[in-house]
Amino acid sequence: MVIKGLKNGPYEIKLEGKKFVVKREDGEEVKQNAIYLCRCGFSKNKPFCDGSHGRCGFEAPEVVIEVK
Ligand code: FES
Repeated sequence: MVIKGLKNGPYEIKLEGKKFVVKREDGEEVKQNAIYLCRCGFSKNKPFCDGSHGRCGFEAPEVVIEVK
């Protein structure tokens, strides 16, 4: 598993060979290869990133966390 804090953006989480199944409020299930979690605090769709980090001027360095 790799967790990346993208430069000035969200956490990107990927599990090699696996997909995430995200259940939305309306019951719809969406399969994704990665999920992006807000780390700026301004998303209106927490815990997911909605792009607000780009509008609020969020700054953070890139960081890579590898779980072995
Ligand atoms: S990191 Fe993207 S909205 Fe917060």
